[in-house]
Amino acid sequence: MNFRTIGIVGAGTMGRGIAQVCIQRGFDVALNDVDAKALEKAAAAIEKQLARAVEKGRISAEDQAAAMSRLRLAPSLEDLAEVDLCIEAATENPDLKLDLFRALEGVCSKEAIIASNTSSISLTRIAGVCTLPERVIGMHFFNPVPVMELVELIRALQTSDATFDAVSAFSERLGKSVVSVKDSPGFVVNRMLVPLINEAVFVLAEGLAEAEEIDKAMRLGANHPIGPLALADLVGLDVCLYVLDVLYREFSDSKYRACPLLRKMVDAGRLGRKSGRGFFEYA
Ligand code: CAA
Repeated sequence: MNFRTIGIVGAGTMGRGIAQVCIQRGFDVALNDVDAKALEKAAAAIEKQLARAVEKGRISAEDQAAAMSRLRLAPSLEDLAEVDLCIEAATENPDLKLDLFRALEGVCSKEAIIASNTSSISLTRIAGVCTLPERVIGMHFFNPVPVMELVELIRALQTSDATFDAVSAFSERLGKSVVSVKDSPGFVVNRMLVPLINEAVFVLAEGLAEAEEIDKAMRLGANHPIGPLALADLVGLDVCLYVLDVLYREFSDSKYRACPLLRKMVDAGRLGRKSGRGFFEYA
């Protein structure tokens, strides 16, 4: 199946990153969000990213203009009626996602594939509320989307081979590498990465070292590009906590117990980069 137009639901960090990569790779994008202001903000952020790429000599001004011309803001779900592939990247809330999938099935054509960028919700559960579950798949991107090469492709129990193959080929056309994963809490990356972040928060809470020192240790001692606490700030502390709570609940295993400090930080609204403060402060 050859996709031309991609619908993206959710104009937050992930949705706008996915939109940027799609328009840069020549796909038409309809970007949807319930919040019109979020849509305007996303378009401005994408334009800024492309302008930076022009400054660095990575793309030409013509490439930038052509990419921006492929981006359409779609304030209503009905604006996604014509898309070949819809990628849902809305807030990580199961009820909201299930409702969205029910609504998307009513809007998209029967031939369209519907993917979710969920980082922790069961794809089998999402597909279970759909009348055509074989066209549902997990397409898990990583932050920042334009930089990170991986896409985890998660098959629900119901996902057809045709859906998997089409989305796999599309991911490669986006310049991404694919890892095929069975539907299981946290998939592969978050199953390992988020407990690592949680352990770093325990190390901080126990006073073993300051935040800067913990991150320095993992950068210089394990060659990680950024330390686990800075990574938590990048991902969002609320997202990390959410993934941990899913792992803890789904596996009924205390090894996934969230550090109380992480929960306190979230309660205090210190969510990381997006709120200006997490384990570190951001201008
Ligand atoms: N969008 C586009 N490009 C970006 C970017 C963004 N948001 N942030 C950084 N970049 C680009 C920069 O422009 C720069 O490009 P050039 O080399 O072309 O100049 C390059 O990335 C390096 O950036 P910096 O020099 O500013 O900073 P850095 O060396 O620290 O690299 C990083 C930034 C690539 C993000 C690096 O810190 C890194 O790899 N961090 C780890 C990221 C990671 O693990 N992400 C996965 C999170 S888990 C997840 O997302 C899944 C989930 O469900 C929770």
